[in-house]
Amino acid sequence: MRIISPSLLAANFQNIEHDIAILEGMGINRLHLDVMDGHFVPTLTFGPMIIKAINRLSSCHLETHLMIEDPYKSLDQYIDAGSDTIIVHLEACKDPLRELEYIKNNNVLAGIAINPDTDERLLDPLLDYLDYILIMSVYPGKGGQNFIPETLCKMKNIVLMRKERNILIGVDGGVNIDTISSVYSTNIDITVVGSGLLNVSNIPKRYEELMNV
Ligand code: DX5
Ligand code: ZN
Repeated sequence: MRIISPSLLAANFQNIEHDIAILEGMGINRLHLDVMDGHFVPTLTFGPMIIKAINRLSSCHLETHLMIEDPYKSLDQYIDAGSDTIIVHLEACKDPLRELEYIKNNNVLAGIAINPDTDERLLDPLLDYLDYILIMSVYPGKGGQNFIPETLCKMKNIVLMRKERNILIGVDGGVNIDTISSVYSTNIDITVVGSGLLNVSNIPKRYEELMNV
């Protein structure tokens, strides 16, 4: 069974309530929130205030993808905002184990994201602390980029590394109607889809296609 976590980066923020209602109406129960700080990535998006508002609008599981430098000092804000999973970037953490433990100690699921050029073996010492691994299939920073096919190999490797552990594996960036089948063929669990789902005229129809193609 495919799980799609729509990235609200591609939603219409003038009427986010409307877009969330469409997604929930289709049976979506997970939303992906892209927080960018203008330092770790050049773009600046939104922070905890907006996440808090989305949490009030939606009963979905909120996965907060923190593309921010040194996330440790901001974790409290994203916990308080109502995140159900918090994902920090391996490349942005001073001490990834400390960040993951802090998240888990606050009863939030802990995830780590890795960039296309980061060696997945660096995840080895973290595996026992992880609830979620987010494999970036583009370089983080903006939506609507082209999927990097070389990351398929990383997906297969990480699926093997997980073994029997209870860790969800997600893939983020450039997942659309043309690429989604190759991504699911690696046995990952969740795809994050932004422009490939939200920037079309008939979102429910595209969702069906993405689930079944
Ligand atoms: C990239 C973000 C992604 C992105 C997905 O920095 O983390 O979540 O918005 O958007 P699409 O699906 O358009 O690549
Ligand atoms: Zn993301």
